[in-house]
Order: sequence, then C-alpha cells, then structure tokens
Amino acid sequence: MKLSRFASDLSARGLLYAIANDRIHAPVPLDAEQNWQLWTEPKSPLIEWLSRAYPPESMRIAYLDKMLDCDHSQGIEAHYDVSNDFYALFLDTKYRFYTCAEFQTDTETLEQAQTNKAKYLLSFLNLAGDEKLLDLGCGWGAMLKFLQDTGHRGELTGFTLSKDQQIYASQKLDLNVSLTDFIATDFASAAYDRILSIGSLEHVRPHELNQLYQKTYDALVPGGLAVHQFFSLTRAAYPTSMVTIQLFFPGSLLVMHQTHIAAAELAGFKITHDSIHDYRPTLRAWYERLVANQSRALELVGLEIFNRYMTFLPISWLFFQQHEADLHRMVMEKPA
Ligand SMILES: C[S@@+](CC[C@H](N)C(=O)[O-])C[C@H]1O[C@@H](n2cnc3c(N)ncnc32)[C@H](O)[C@@H]1O
Repeated sequence: MKLSRFASDLSARGLLYAIANDRIHAPVPLDAEQNWQLWTEPKSPLIEWLSRAYPPESMRIAYLDKMLDCDHSQGIEAHYDVSNDFYALFLDTKYRFYTCAEFQTDTETLEQAQTNKAKYLLSFLNLAGDEKLLDLGCGWGAMLKFLQDTGHRGELTGFTLSKDQQIYASQKLDLNVSLTDFIATDFASAAYDRILSIGSLEHVRPHELNQLYQKTYDALVPGGLAVHQFFSLTRAAYPTSMVTIQLFFPGSLLVMHQTHIAAAELAGFKITHDSIHDYRPTLRAWYERLVANQSRALELVGLEIFNRYMTFLPISWLFFQQHEADLHRMVMEKPA
C-alpha cells in the first residue's frame, strides 16, 4: 500500500511530492533534526535536476488545472480549519500571525519579530486614526487587533474563508470579521481608505488576479492605499514545486511577480514601494515551536496532520532558500 502510493506519486507527481507524501503518512512522528536536515541540506545535482524537471510542464499544467477546479473555500478549510489550538502551539502568542515576520536580530523572539512586521506595515498604511480599513484574508485577526492596540478608531473589517478563524476573530477578539470570499464578492465602490492583505494573495489564482486588483482599486477612495505582503514566483509559472504544494494548499497556485505588477498597474495603481524580505527565520521559528509542543499537537490533530506540518515547514524553507519565490511588501496608491 505504502510502496504503491510512493510509486504512483513518483510517476504522476514527481520526486518531492512522493517523498513528502510518504513522510506525511509515516507511522511515527517525524524526528525533528533528521527531518529538517533531510529537506534543507543541499542535494546532489542529479536530484536537484530531477525534482525540477519531472513531472514535465504539460503534466504539471493538467494536474494543476484539475486542482484549481475546486472551490476556494475547500482549499482554505483543508489547510486552516484543523484546530485553532494547534496553530496556537507554534504561532506567536501575542497576535497569532500566520505570515512572514521581521527578525531584526538573531536573538529576537517570534513575538517581537511579528510586532516588527506589523509596525513595518503600519508605517506603510500612513494612518491618521479614523480611516476605514479592509483586511483581505485576515486570519485570526492579528493585524486588525494590532491596529486596535495602536488606538486606531476608524472602522476595521476583515474577510476570511476559514470558519475556525472567523469564529475566533469575531467571538474571542470581538472583531468585525466575516466569512466572505474576497474573490467571489463585489466590494462597494470607494468604500475604504485602506485595503490591506498579508499572506492571502498567494491564494488568488492567476486568472483571478486582474479582477481582484481592479476591485481593490475601485473599492478605494481617491488617494487611498493598498498595502500587500505576499510571495510570488521568481522564475517561471508552473514549476514542479506548485505540484508539491498541493499537499498543503490544495487549489492554490502562485503567480509570477511580474504578473502581480502588471495587474496592479493595469488597474490604475501607482506602485510606490516594493521590498523583498526573508521568510526563512519565521519558518524555522514555527518549526521549533511545533517540535517543542509535539505531544500536545499530536493530541489535538493526530499523527498525519502533525507530520504534514512537520513536512510543510522545512519544504517551505527550502522553497525560499532556492529562491523559487520571494516575499514582497508592496504599497500601491490610487491617484487622488
Ligand atoms: C496565510 S493566512 C494569513 C492570515 C493573516 N493575514 C495573517 O497575517 O496571519 C491567509 C488568509 O487568507 C484567507 N483567504 C485566502 N483566500 C481567501 C478568499 N478568497 N477570501 C477570503 N479570505 C481568503 C484565509 O482564510 C486566511 O485567513
């Protein structure tokens, strides 16, 4: 059974997918040190070549097209609705951000690094205090809570597609967060002074991008700002890594960075800032916390989901190490 899954994954999805799926289904919790090394240590040129070349592009496109047929909410539920308490075991305890932090020194805690990131984005938002702000894909409400903590008085709204996140953000934090698909839903015209997204544009499919940027543009008041943090592909559309990523984010497909820029400019935005940041320290910090909380994690989500995240975090580290994608922070202005 195990061998036949590996063999069929290998022929249909390639080497990385087959190894990752095999490890996700391991009969015991993955060993922390050995697992991290397996994914992050340099590989032989032959393995590198094989993992990039197979499956060939036509097979990748056919498979990804099939995966992208599913509703967005199914993909989001599969990744995010596993247990709020499980995520709390490895995310920062103050805000529960599930996105790249900003480590300014090697000794900072995850909590400090996430606060650094939030302050960084806050500086881009250029707020006076009473602006209406929409957070697209607000997760557990981390940035909205941070904005409240800074004394922001304007209306704050968040959208998520995760039921667990919506319950947490609205019931525990008393935030105005609704279960709304920001791709399928129309936004009111000129309704917001600021539109923010942190780590949710990764879930927008290539053919949906132009429309989303246009909706965002139309929903801002003249002179309004959109601030986005997201990662995008550096080299080519449809790399083999997008096949492997289906194990963790079914139905998501990253877009080339130049496609984001073109979509933003086509909508009418003036891009005033675009910087690149390092995701790897955050992934390592989450991994260490997950490992430290292994027993509780196993109680909460069981072996397969535990091993899935143990595999997901170092694979993502490798993804950034190999420069397949970069994490960007961008500011876009709707002309006044
Ligand atoms: C990686 S999490 C980031 C959450 C949060 N921004 C943070 O910094 O922790 C991605 C978020 O995007 C949301 N999302 C993705 N696609 C969405 C869609 N089409 N409509 C609404 N929310 C979406 C998910 O529900 C999730 O909350």
